[in-house]
Parts: sequence; structure tokens; C-alpha cells
Amino acid sequence: MRRSHAILTVLTTGALTAGSFAVLSPSADAATTLGAAAAGKGRYFGTAVAAYKLSDSVYSTILNREFNSVTPENEMKWDATEPTQGTFTFTSSDTIVNRAVSIGAKVRGHALAWHSQQPSWAQNLSGTALRNAMVNHVTQVATHFKGKIDSWDVVNEAFADGSSGARRDSNLQRTGNDWIEVAFRTARAADPAAKLCYNDYNTDGQNAKSNAVYAMVTDFKARGVPIDCVGFQSHFNAASPLPSDYQANLQRFANLGVDVQITELDIEGSGTTQANTYAAATNACLAVTRCNGITVWGIRDTDSWRASGTPLLFDGNGNPKAAYTAVLNALGGTTTSPSTSPSPSTSQPPGTKSCTATVALNTWTGGFVATVKVTAGATALTGWTATVTLPAGAAVSNTWNATAAGSTGAVAFTNIAYNGPVAPSASTEFGFQGTGSAPATTATCTAR
Ligand code: G3I
Repeated sequence: MRRSHAILTVLTTGALTAGSFAVLSPSADAATTLGAAAAGKGRYFGTAVAAYKLSDSVYSTILNREFNSVTPENEMKWDATEPTQGTFTFTSSDTIVNRAVSIGAKVRGHALAWHSQQPSWAQNLSGTALRNAMVNHVTQVATHFKGKIDSWDVVNEAFADGSSGARRDSNLQRTGNDWIEVAFRTARAADPAAKLCYNDYNTDGQNAKSNAVYAMVTDFKARGVPIDCVGFQSHFNAASPLPSDYQANLQRFANLGVDVQITELDIEGSGTTQANTYAAATNACLAVTRCNGITVWGIRDTDSWRASGTPLLFDGNGNPKAAYTAVLNALGGTTTSPSTSPSPSTSQPPGTKSCTATVALNTWTGGFVATVKVTAGATALTGWTATVTLPAGAAVSNTWNATAAGSTGAVAFTNIAYNGPVAPSASTEFGFQGTGSAPATTATCTAR
């Protein structure tokens, strides 16, 4: 697949209006999505994705707009990829990987070797037969996705809860204590470019379980067993709150010479309390240089494996929650909504409204994603329309942060309520995905 990037700049029409208006957020260039804001911090912001939900337009629009990493929620697991021994099925996992490629997102592979979600044939194996089946599974799956995976959860949840610090008993563990390092060595041989992670829950603070993982990583590093990262699932609720030593725990693992990643973040709750906890988790990652990304375990509350706890960043209708704004702000991004109420003392004289639109393209054979930045002139906008002309055969398939009139030819993209107001010289962004050839260098921006 060949990609190219281009920047097109277009200009302006004006409209004369008068009157006072709100003071608007002053952040002219701040990112307005989770992924873009995280990228500004040298990190990714990802979500778990379920293949069967990609046809849900609300779900898909948020995915395409907000996230630059995806983790298949169930589709890469052993039961999904090798339902019959030796017969591999990648249909739904390929669907997710293809979507990730189309939106420029990384992929976290999840999970090669795990005691849970094994196909029944594997559950019934033991000893050498199971060990060989595991090695073959890791080889085949990692080879299928070779070159497309940023980080693999090679081994998932292999340590026991509680104070023992022991390995979890499982059929894999009973094949011998070396099963974890065998899985890592096998994954490295199959896909040398992927980062190889150990992933677990209840390891988010310093405790007997995380101490045991820490000892394993220390040992692997000392003996040259390939391991590049440790994933901290970070499923939080009242019974399992964000630990006060979360950042310190991430840092002590990073100090071993591995990356650390927040891999399945969700926080049960609502409102300000939930938002503050999300911000604290985000800030902990930002404070650790080797924390290279955060993944939330689903998009809308209703997509969650524990939906009743409303643990995610978007409500069931796809509206961003307070937790979303808290994470976006922690990442240095901003929504484009007014930051304060209108005030007579901030009125400005009437002026000629104008805007420009800058279009950045990410293209590949048969499709493209366009990110359009609308910048106000010297006078604040209350709304805008940017018109992009598509070549024959091209069509808009998905739009975010704007409403598209039509899908072919000259397509007019108009603001939605929250990003219509733009302060003088400030910008807001919208985007769209299309099939066919990328747009021509003709576009206009109409100010209101
Ligand atoms: O697809 C079948 C459907 O055909 C059937 O009718 C239905 C009846 O139960 O089940 C459906 O499969 C469910 C699957 O999710 C897809 O929705 C399984 O029962 C259900 O067990 C499975 O749950 C997943 C869970 O892992 C299994 O352990 C969750 O979606 C998934 O979010 C969760 O993810 C795990 C991570 O992999 C590891 N860390 C913990 C995390 C949360 O439990």
C-alpha cells in the first residue's frame, strides 16, 4: 500500500455582520480529538473495537474521529482465530486491522496466549500436545499479522490474584513454568518488529501480584528473553480504585527498560468524580516517559463489558462525557466550545467575517482521509461551511465534527453546534473519509 501526504490551502469568502459575541477558547492550534492530542504528547490514544459494531455509524464515526490505536476486543483471541486445531480464521480480526490502516491507527494485538477464551479443543489438551499447539498458534497468528502490529499482548493474565505472588494455575502453566518465555521467543521469531508485551490486571499498583510480574520482567531482561512492554489493564471501580502509587508503579517497570502501556482503561462512575479519576490516570501516563499509550476498553458506555457501571468516555448516544473532556484536556487538547459565557464587557466592534481552510490528506490506493482545519480571520465566527470538491468516482463515506451535504462532487461541510463558534485567528478541525481518489485542490470556506 502506498501512502502520500499533501497539504492544500484554500481561501475565503467574507460576510459582514455586527454585534457582540462570546469570548472563545483561545487555543488556536490545540488538538480537538483524543488521538491528535495524545500524538502531540508523543503517545497514542486507543480503544478496544468489536468488529460487529463497525457497521454502527455512531460507533464508527467516533472511532474514526477520536482514536489512533485499536485493540480487537475478542477477535484475535485463541477461540476466535483457531476454532478448530490447525484451521485459522482471520475474517473479523482482518476487518478491524483494515479499519485501523484506513484511519492511520496503530494496532495492539490481543492476545496470543491466555488461559481464558481458548477453543474447546485446546482446553482439552495438556502437556506436550498443548505446548506444541500454543507454539503453533503463536507462530501462525503473529505471522499472519506480521508488520501490522505495534504491540502484541503475547501473554495475558498469567499470575494469580492475592498475596501468593504465584503463577495462575492453568492448563498452560501446567505445561511447565517456561511457557511464558517460550511464547515470547516464538512471537519474536514470527514478527520481529512488533513490541512484545506482558499484560495483566490488578497489577496497577505495587502489590504481591505486580511484584511477581516485576520479578519476571527483571529475570527476562537479565537472561535476554525478548520482552518490550508491560500492559496495565486498569479496570477501576469502587472495589478496585485507581491506586495512589499508579504512576510510581508504571515508573518502576519503565526503569527495567520496558515500555509501559495502559491497555484496557475503564473507570466505573459518573460526573466529576469519574472525570477526575480519568484525568489522574492520563496524567500518570504522561508523567512516565516510557508510557507510550492509553487504550480505553470500548467507546460508549453501552459498548462496555460492564455497561451498567457506565465506565467509558462516551454515553450510550455517543455524546462525550465529562470524563472525555477531562482526558482531552489532560492531553493538552481542547473542545472548541466557548470557555466562558458571553459578557457585555468583552463585546468587540463589528467586523468582516472570513475564514480559511487547510486540508491535510492521507491517501492510499482506493481511499483517503482528509483532515480539514478551519481558521477564522480577525473576526470571530458563529459558524462556517467548507466546500471540498471530490474528483469523479470519489465519495465521502464518513464525516466527523461536521455535517456533509451530499457525498460526491462539491461537498459542503457545515459546522455542528459545538464547533461553529471560532475565536478570531483560532481554528477548529473536522475530517472525512472517502473512497476513490483524493480531492482536488479546490475548496472554499464561507464564514458566518
Ligand atoms: O459472540 C457470542 C455470542 O454469539 C453469544 O450469543 C453470546 C452469549 O454469551 O456470547 C458472545 O460472546 C461473548 C463475547 O464477549 C463477545 O461479546 C462472550 O460470551 C463473552 O464472554 C465475551 O466477553 C469478553 C471477555 O473478555 C471474555 O473474557 C468481553 O467482550 C471482553 O471485553 C473481555 O475482555 C477482557 C480482556 O480480553 C482481558 N482483560 C479483561 C477484559 C475484560 O473482561
